[in-house]
Amino acid sequence: MDNLLNPMLFERHSIRKYTDRPIDSEAVKQILEAGLLAPSSKSARPWHFIVVEDRAILEALSKCKKIGSRPIAGCALAIVVVADPEKSDVYIEDASVAAAFMHLQACALGVGSCWIQIRNRFDAADVPAARIVRSLLNIPDGLEPICIISCGMPDEQRRAVDPEKLEWQKVHIGEWTSGESL
Ligand SMILES: Cc1cc2nc3c(=O)[nH]c(=O)nc-3n(C[C@H](O)[C@H](O)[C@H](O)COP(=O)(O)O)c2cc1C
Repeated sequence: MDNLLNPMLFERHSIRKYTDRPIDSEAVKQILEAGLLAPSSKSARPWHFIVVEDRAILEALSKCKKIGSRPIAGCALAIVVVADPEKSDVYIEDASVAAAFMHLQACALGVGSCWIQIRNRFDAADVPAARIVRSLLNIPDGLEPICIISCGMPDEQRRAVDPEKLEWQKVHIGEWTSGESL
């Protein structure tokens, strides 16, 4: 059978360095569309996406964690993924799938992006990152910031994944097997 695996799946990487070029507005719309098209349990779609372009707010968001949030400072825009626990008992999974769809669609459009974890993360003074994000963006109580997808035109090249390096030992056929499975 022909290999119909999307080559983008090998080329996709987290991109954390961005040029100053703005992202085409149609591309931004398509990235958000991908999030809105994501599957969710019982089709509850318990998410909201906040698009942030204000440089001062991006700079503040980039400091919401001890480590791992600096890419936000240099991105063209950030998509803050917020979930509503009232709308679904699996809101974290639902919001995460939507975030992954946006990350993949960004890649398909040549836009670099990176998932920045917010839930369960803390800043240098041990303040919850979610509390900082909530206050910077006026997110109502009850809604939970899950992650931020930083987006920008790539200013770094990453090598495609070597198919030989895939961890096939983590695939188990029929039942749990330890050691070689395929
Ligand atoms: C749930 C999750 C949380 C992540 N959190 C961060 C983060 O806070 N900061 C960051 O720079 N990258 C973060 N990443 C990106 C990972 O570091 C990255 O996916 C991993 O190193 C593999 O690299 P690749 O995406 O280029 O294949 C996160 C990814 C996921 C899926």
